[in-house]
Amino acid sequence: MSLFRKKSLDAILTQAADSEKGLKRTLGAGNLVALGIGAIIGAGLFVRTAAAAGQAAGPAVTLSFVVAAIGCAFAGLCYAEFASMIPIAGSAYAYSYVTMGELIAWIIGWALIMEYALGAATVSIAWSEYLNKLFGGSIPYEWCHSPFESFTDSAGVHHSGIMNAPALVILLALTLLLIKGTQESALVNAIIVFIKVAIVLMFIAIGWQFIKPENHTPFLIPEGTPPVTDQAGKVIADYSGWNKHGWGGVLGGAAIVFFAFIGFDAVSTAAQEAKNPKRDMPIGILGSLIVCTILYILFGYVLTGVADWKDFVDPEKGREASVAYAISTYMTGYKWLADAVTVAILAGFSSVILVMLMGQSRIFYTMSNDGLIPKAFGAIHPKFKTPYKANWILFVFVGAFAAFVPGHVAGDLTSFGTLFAFVLVSIGVWILRVKSPNLERPFKTPLVPVVCSLGAIICTAMIVGLDKQTLTVAFAWMAIGLVVYFAYSRKRSKLGSPGEILPKASDFN
Ligand code: ALA
Repeated sequence: MSLFRKKSLDAILTQAADSEKGLKRTLGAGNLVALGIGAIIGAGLFVRTAAAAGQAAGPAVTLSFVVAAIGCAFAGLCYAEFASMIPIAGSAYAYSYVTMGELIAWIIGWALIMEYALGAATVSIAWSEYLNKLFGGSIPYEWCHSPFESFTDSAGVHHSGIMNAPALVILLALTLLLIKGTQESALVNAIIVFIKVAIVLMFIAIGWQFIKPENHTPFLIPEGTPPVTDQAGKVIADYSGWNKHGWGGVLGGAAIVFFAFIGFDAVSTAAQEAKNPKRDMPIGILGSLIVCTILYILFGYVLTGVADWKDFVDPEKGREASVAYAISTYMTGYKWLADAVTVAILAGFSSVILVMLMGQSRIFYTMSNDGLIPKAFGAIHPKFKTPYKANWILFVFVGAFAAFVPGHVAGDLTSFGTLFAFVLVSIGVWILRVKSPNLERPFKTPLVPVVCSLGAIICTAMIVGLDKQTLTVAFAWMAIGLVVYFAYSRKRSKLGSPGEILPKASDFN
């Protein structure tokens, strides 16, 4: 039975009330939407849109966005119920500890490491791509790619990665910033959000005139599309799999661009700072999702209309820094826009990485306070009041991925971890409705269990749409998690022991 021991909701709410003393309720619905957009728009849009078009969906990547958005909307409605009901600086990990017990909470916590830590790695790799573009491609291929990446160019020269040094550098810089406790102020976030949205809107408005209808035809990748190879005959894109062409490709593409939506759940971590969480949390979560979905669909439509989607698999064309490539290659007279986009993207990516590293260190901190992972993860810096040890451990872990793993592998694993957490949150809302129907629910997910089931089903379908290789690594990661739980965490869990210590958001700087 102890596998399903739960934290009591009362204890968590008392803790939340307690920590409220240290936090000011300053955020309105508009701030929350901005916070969401700040965490959402990043590498998913500026890198993975092109990857999904080139590898699976073609111009129908717009439909992939629709599928991913529907899955997120259903899961988002479930997140909103939890976020309004358990308004602690929390995450799916904290919610599930209350609703589904320790084992499931552990599994979600373990999956969230994939979401946040590998998410940060993925965005730092994307950052490195755009930095290289800004420098005119002058960073040697070897030093901005993982050892698992190689290709032979049109001159017959073979390139092979050694490590992605720029990705490591940006991670180090942001880790140091986090340890010092410099928090992005609402103002900085608002400025970055403004720049990001402005760039996206500009690209849509200006790019619209450069759309060539033939780039959108056929709309789906046809069955039997031959593989793309490099000069040495190495296959760099293969369209034979069920999830690599036609409608299957739309689903495969959805699993890839799903990454672009990750982060709306970050709004839930600000529950304690919302002026009126009952009304504003759902608006913040769903509002940022709606704004981003509209922008993404238009953006995907323009990007695949301006450039031929096949360019996006070619390492000598638009495989990397795809948006800057599309502008500088096809939008004559707009070189300035390519440069502006690149600079804005570098700033925008930095804020996404920061949010992800911070989210992960908070989850580590909470899990450590619960006794499930070693105490070091919960150690607070005496001066800066930040979980500095967790930040350093995280840097080593995330840095290893960023330096030595290809971006698409880290990105797909991120999607897996998040989708997995979404499935469990969707089911969790339903379980709690049945088990504790009378709890106060300031925001109620509509049409339970329909919305919960659809959320779980669509997110599971996207998991199935991921590559076999990704799924194998992801399940291996989850299996390791179970071993750690049974060998270490279960015995050390603080749950139920006298003097149980729950983390307070006010413990943080
Ligand atoms: N949604 C975030 C991004 O696209 C993670 O970078």
